[in-house]
Amino acid sequence: MSDKEAALANLQKIQAEGLAALEAVTEQEELEAWRVATLGRSSPVMGVFSSMGAMDQDLRPVMGKAANEVRTTLEAAFEAKRAALEEAALLKELETEKLDVTLPGRPVERGRLHPLTQVLRRIIRTFGDMGFQVYRSPEVETDDYNFTYLNMPPYHPARDMWDTFYTKDEGVLLRTHTSGGQIRVMRERAPEPIRVILPGTTMRYEQLSARSEIEFAQVEVLVVGEKVTFAELKGTLEDFAKRLFGEEARTRLRPSHFPFTEPSAEMDVECFVCGGKGCGVCKETGWLEILGCGMVHPVVLENGGYDPARYSGFAAGMGIDRSTLMRYRIDDIRHFRNNDIRFLRQF
Ligand code: PHE
Repeated sequence: MSDKEAALANLQKIQAEGLAALEAVTEQEELEAWRVATLGRSSPVMGVFSSMGAMDQDLRPVMGKAANEVRTTLEAAFEAKRAALEEAALLKELETEKLDVTLPGRPVERGRLHPLTQVLRRIIRTFGDMGFQVYRSPEVETDDYNFTYLNMPPYHPARDMWDTFYTKDEGVLLRTHTSGGQIRVMRERAPEPIRVILPGTTMRYEQLSARSEIEFAQVEVLVVGEKVTFAELKGTLEDFAKRLFGEEARTRLRPSHFPFTEPSAEMDVECFVCGGKGCGVCKETGWLEILGCGMVHPVVLENGGYDPARYSGFAAGMGIDRSTLMRYRIDDIRHFRNNDIRFLRQF
């Protein structure tokens, strides 16, 4: 074999090996490594170019041409491979992002009202039908409104009926009941007659249990005017109970005590779970306690700006959470506020 033949055969070998190596390439990074090894500055083809200076004069043009052809062939193969890999990557991307437009759509999740909101709204609507207005009073309240103006001066033992959250600010607390709002309405309306309810959140420093939460909701009822009587209290609350629980719902009043009403009572409704026969919900008594009430105490009327010699009124306060528990037979009051969607979905 002549030198020329040997050199040309070597070029053919370089080309064949380069193409074979390219055949095995499947990734972009491998391709780059191949380019450096096969067409880079220290690659075999480039070696041929740099060795040309030492070649015989007549061999140079032949070798130059042949080497150029090899380089061009390898470059073209590189380009083709690069394009093929790019297309494969694109197809793969399309594959993973494939969208079947014939699939049925995903249903949109629909929210619903919280069971407590539903009950609260029913109560508000019921009182609204009876001619009551809704009045909002603050959840962060002063000691004066929550206690003092309600006939419970500082250190009055009756304050212990409500386990209270106090704030760092002297005389500011989280209201333990909605009754403080009575004073706010009276001071705003005096001497006009009043017929309002005050729904809202109340808080007590309770040991958490299946029956007690630190946060719960109340609805306060307040009626003030000339000649408001206990009979009107009884009639209004009985009417309310029938509208809410049904025409057959029986109620009863039991004497009780609150510092801001005199006389005071508690109203029970016949157990709506067993119909009065006695069951676990009503603890076999047939009755469920739903609210506290009474005639507004003269001291409270006076603190609200009404002359107790001329005006009288009645008030009531009901907790929403426990009656909602009973109504839906929910076993734990803590379900209401821990935001478990599986629980809330049932209402
Ligand atoms: N505020 C009382 C309570 O939370 C309920 C009540 C309201 C009683 C109005 C009488 C009159 O226990």
